[in-house]
Amino acid sequence: MQHLLDIKSLSNDEILQIVELAKYYEKNVVLGTQKRKNRGSVALLFFENSTRTRFSFEMASRKLGFDVFNFEVQKSSLLKGEGIFDTLNNLNAIGCDIAVIRHSQEGFIENLSKKSYAYNLSLINAGEGKKSHPTQALLDFYTLTKHLGSLEGKKIVIVGDVIHSRVAKSNIELLSRFNANVVCCCPSYFEDWSLENASYEANLEEALKDADAVMGLRIQKERIDTKIPYAQYINDYQINEKNLPEKAILMHPGPVNRDVEISSSLIDSKRGEIIIEQPRNGVFIRMAVLDLIFEGVQR
Ligand code: CP
Repeated sequence: MQHLLDIKSLSNDEILQIVELAKYYEKNVVLGTQKRKNRGSVALLFFENSTRTRFSFEMASRKLGFDVFNFEVQKSSLLKGEGIFDTLNNLNAIGCDIAVIRHSQEGFIENLSKKSYAYNLSLINAGEGKKSHPTQALLDFYTLTKHLGSLEGKKIVIVGDVIHSRVAKSNIELLSRFNANVVCCCPSYFEDWSLENASYEANLEEALKDADAVMGLRIQKERIDTKIPYAQYINDYQINEKNLPEKAILMHPGPVNRDVEISSSLIDSKRGEIIIEQPRNGVFIRMAVLDLIFEGVQR
């Protein structure tokens, strides 16, 4: 792999290879830290806010022995009018091998991947607009398979703001590739009918029947101009102790709007524990992605 742009550009074999390597790093984190020192350099360029993704890429980079640099947009020469390609090309010339990028604009990272860099720069999508968040989908896949085994025929219910969620889009693409039965559940104002491989069930009780996993989605306030009827939404779509099926595991990519998409008491109960396992799994998945990209590119 030269870049990681989206799920579409990964083969099923590559996805399974990432998962296998993540498993290895989960068991051998210390070895991962000791094995390689000063392998290369990773730049983190986050144009949108992040806690989990940015920190887990930084943690993964350090555990692999990469040097890691946080690009501060507000203190950079972008504010003097320099373009993003020139910025990346200069970071590459200074010594960065991999740039991890989060941006609000769809197609931003793919466009940058088509440019020619002075010293072979690799790009990783750390969340782009409403369209894609491939490493989140990979860590969710890793988490699901750890708890459920094969996803063949498993019912995964995604509840919430589908239309504004890059996590939902990347997950639907990945999970359906492994023959999971993905059902989205949301009010009509959160439906996105352009998605292939997802069915909708508007009624939460109906959607949750026989679910193997339930994934809550955050209402993406920063991407919504209209007023959301929160009280009605909570009444109709909140996941809580009463409606979460007994056998289903509960997930959420974070950050969670407590008592909106999931009740606070459920998050803090035993059944909420996988939500806090997900960012931990994200470190192992991001170690695997960084490793495969670095090893796969002639430098
Ligand atoms: N899930 C996720 O992308 O979280 P952050 O925005 O905190 O990185």
